[in-house]
Formats: sequence, C-alpha cells, structure tokens
Amino acid sequence: MKITSAKFVISNSEAAKCPPERIPEYAFIGRSNVGKSSLINMLTGNKSLAKTSAKPGKTQLINHFKINENWFLVDLPGYGYAKVSKKVKATFQKFITDYFETREQLVCAFVLIDIRLEPQKIDLEFFTYLGESQIPFIMIFTKADKIGVTKVDQAVKNYQKAMLAENWAELPPYFVTSSETGRGREEILAYIDELNQD
Ligand code: GTP
Ligand code: MG
Repeated sequence: MKITSAKFVISNSEAAKCPPERIPEYAFIGRSNVGKSSLINMLTGNKSLAKTSAKPGKTQLINHFKINENWFLVDLPGYGYAKVSKKVKATFQKFITDYFETREQLVCAFVLIDIRLEPQKIDLEFFTYLGESQIPFIMIFTKADKIGVTKVDQAVKNYQKAMLAENWAELPPYFVTSSETGRGREEILAYIDELNQD
C-alpha cells in the first residue's frame, strides 16, 4: 500500500473525545521508549509527524493521525515507565484502558516489543489484558537494527515461549521492524491494507 497522505488530527486524554468517524483504526502501544512514535513516522515516511525522544515518556496523550483520508493510526503513551503492578488498571493509565475498552473503530492493537529485551512481565500482562478484553492484537518487535540476525529469531522465540507458558492457545502474528532501516514497513502496510478490506 502506498501512503499518499498522513495528517495529525487531534491529541486528547479522553477516549470519549477521540474522532467520531467510523473508519478503521490501528493503535500503537508498548513500553515507554520502545519506538511507537518512530514506527508511525517510519510507516508514513514523515520523520516529524509523531514526536519522538530518546527520553521515555515523550508521548502523553492519545494522538490520532489520518492516513490516506480513510483510516487512522493512533500513537499512545507508553506503559511500564514506573513499576509493574499486579493490577492492570493500576499499571496502565485509565484513559488508555478506556480507549481500548470503548473504541469500537479499533481493528487491531499493535503491541511493540523491544527486540533486545528478555520477555518483560509488563508486556505479558498487557497481552493478558488485551486477551481478556477480547481486543485483537499483533506483536511488533522494534529496533532490530540494534542486534545481530541470529538473535532476532531467538528473541521472537523467547516471547512466544513465554506466552505459551502462560497458556496462550494461539500466538498472534508478529513483525520484525527497524525505524532506522525501514525493515518491516512493507509487510505492516500490506497487513493493514488487508484488514482495511474486511
Ligand atoms: P514514548 O512516547 O516515550 O512512550 O516512546 P516511544 O515508544 O514513542 O519511542 P520513540 O519513538 O520516541 O523512540 C524512543 C527512542 O528510540 C528514540 O531515541 C528513537 O530514535 C529510538 N528508536 C526508535 N525506534 C528505533 C529503531 O528501530 N532503531 C533504533 N536504533 N532506534 C530506535
Ligand atoms: Mg511516543
């Protein structure tokens, strides 16, 4: 799929105030600093569309970007900046869980995972939260440029193993990406294109 336009629409801290349009929507979520905003910029080919920073905690609001005039990419604040708590609702800011639980236009959540890290408890908790809330999601491994080729497969397997250990019957689709090299761009855009047709 070709991106012909990508425009910032609105930032807000209330799910209820998100754009009312009934068009397909894909949300980027994951730990602070994992590369959510960078991936949005990489996919849209616009380095200054979403604000990025080397310091965690840059994105603080729900940000809607309208793509090709007919679907949304949503940049969300990161989680896991503070400590892990047993209660998902206490760990993930309420306006984020409100967003996931009320946003009917959401087709699929893209959960970003830093490929360099061992499976993180907070990510596994977030998968469980999405599963329990019946929200479809896929995994996107980020920063693949930072590790060797052989380590990529191992990192993916480690996460899958951790999910199987938590009794996931089915593993979600995944993509390996780098916002530096553009790796994964075509595959993700093709995946979105397919979902947009449904
Ligand atoms: P928050 O908004 O704070 O939750 O962070 P975020 O997940 O939006 O991360 P962001 O896109 O701001 O990127 C965080 C840092 O990681 C920045 O310094 C980016 O340049 C860097 N980064 C993001 N993606 C990649 C990547 O694929 N490769 C490399 N090498 N660096 C990356
Ligand atoms: Mg961000």
